[in-house]
Amino acid sequence: MVSYNEIKASNALINDATAPRVAVFVGGTSGIGKLTIRALVATGASVRIYLVGRQSSHERTNPFIQELHAMNPKADIIWTEGEVSLLAETKRVCEVIRSKERHVDLLFLTAGYAPFGARRETAEGLEIAQSLGYYSRMLFILHLLPLLENAEAPRVVGVLAGGMEWTSIELDDIELKQPGNFGMIKAQRQQVNMNSISLERLAGDNPHVTFVHSCPGWVNTGNVWRGVDDPNSIMAWFVWLILEPLIGLFSFSDEESGQRHLFQCTSAAFGGGGIPWKGKAGVNSLNKPGNGLFLVNYKCDCTPNARVMSVLREKAQGRIWDHTLEVLGPYLQCSRRSNARRTQCGQDDVGQGSPDAVPRAPDSDHNSPTAAQPLSTSPSGRLDGDAAKPDAAAAAADIGKGIPKNQCEYRRLSWRVVDPATAGHGG
Ligand SMILES: NC(=O)c1ccc[n+]([C@@H]2O[C@H](COP(=O)([O-])OP(=O)(O)OC[C@H]3O[C@@H](n4cnc5c(N)ncnc54)[C@H](OP(=O)(O)O)[C@@H]3O)[C@@H](O)[C@H]2O)c1
Repeated sequence: MVSYNEIKASNALINDATAPRVAVFVGGTSGIGKLTIRALVATGASVRIYLVGRQSSHERTNPFIQELHAMNPKADIIWTEGEVSLLAETKRVCEVIRSKERHVDLLFLTAGYAPFGARRETAEGLEIAQSLGYYSRMLFILHLLPLLENAEAPRVVGVLAGGMEWTSIELDDIELKQPGNFGMIKAQRQQVNMNSISLERLAGDNPHVTFVHSCPGWVNTGNVWRGVDDPNSIMAWFVWLILEPLIGLFSFSDEESGQRHLFQCTSAAFGGGGIPWKGKAGVNSLNKPGNGLFLVNYKCDCTPNARVMSVLREKAQGRIWDHTLEVLGPYLQCSRRSNARRTQCGQDDVGQGSPDAVPRAPDSDHNSPTAAQPLSTSPSGRLDGDAAKPDAAAAAADIGKGIPKNQCEYRRLSWRVVDPATAGHGG
């Protein structure tokens, strides 16, 4: 176990030179994301944070943003509105960020909840918890990889249950759509397995980027209630009488959880980049030192879960990844029918750009021409990707970059012309 004192000592070394200068938090409107933002901002370092949240949480989040600005005047917190359970919205939010930044140091993904209730689908036909906990997360990563590749020591941290993978995975009905196939345990396992094997695949394809799949332990955020749709169900009683009291008893304090996740975002213990680490170097999901995917438990130890991961790698990785690209395909591309649509997408059509990687850019500091300007707002109060004009670097960027092994797949998918407004998936 990495002791709390070691964690705090490492985080005390975060400053203007070592902090993730540009960070994107998806799920930072509450819980572990919020706690980690607070810990990062409290370091006093100069950071720019894209805080992605849905419209219904904006008002509630405003006092938090004010608190952060008061705590650290060098922190620039940019509220970035989006309903990220929808892939079209995830794509739009990424385009806003891509139009503003040349690099991203940290992508921190916590949106989601344990699927304790019945299957509920988004307008795009994906089950909501799976969309938040897996598909939208993968889409954020794929869209922001070119910016991550431009950073010096980029990191993606997804919080769910790294190290808790099971050998059992449903491959004939990956979305668990068949009647009777969607249940609490199965759906949770499916999400966890899919995250770990896909993150490992992405880590293999993008060796410059460090990936962490974190298992946070118990943190008393109220997350267990999110998936409970019927207050009179047995599940609701179970959560009320057993689960919540247990979480209250054994959970980390809010502060420790925030500090532990900040450590996972910044320490060289995982992959060698970041704040120097004198302790034992973490091993990746292939049970090797060096960079890759790190399955990190609540004690901040690496738990490669080698036996299970090798089964999943052999039996499921290819199928899951193909399925993922199929689902995400319509949201990984831009229309090339009209200039208007191209402007909407904020980037060149995938498949027409150069196959070369975007040249690594020098750090964009807050005064640089590419630094974030206040984002314009549409009459609905929503950040508007159309209004945010893409800079040249973002316009030249290609979503397929940074994923060399998969270029062909992306290019094949990208040639289909799909209108993001009407692109649906499944039912
Ligand atoms: N807390 C724990 O003990 C624990 C343990 C193991 C695993 N986990 C997993 O770790 C992740 C983070 O947990 P947490 O405790 O930080 O969660 P949390 O406090 O409940 O926050 C989850 C985030 O997800 C967003 N979200 C939830 N439902 C949404 C929806 N339908 N549409 C859009 N956004 C939605 C929330 O946005 P709003 O603020 O707008 O509601 C919030 O930003 C979750 O996937 C959770 O399942 C947590």
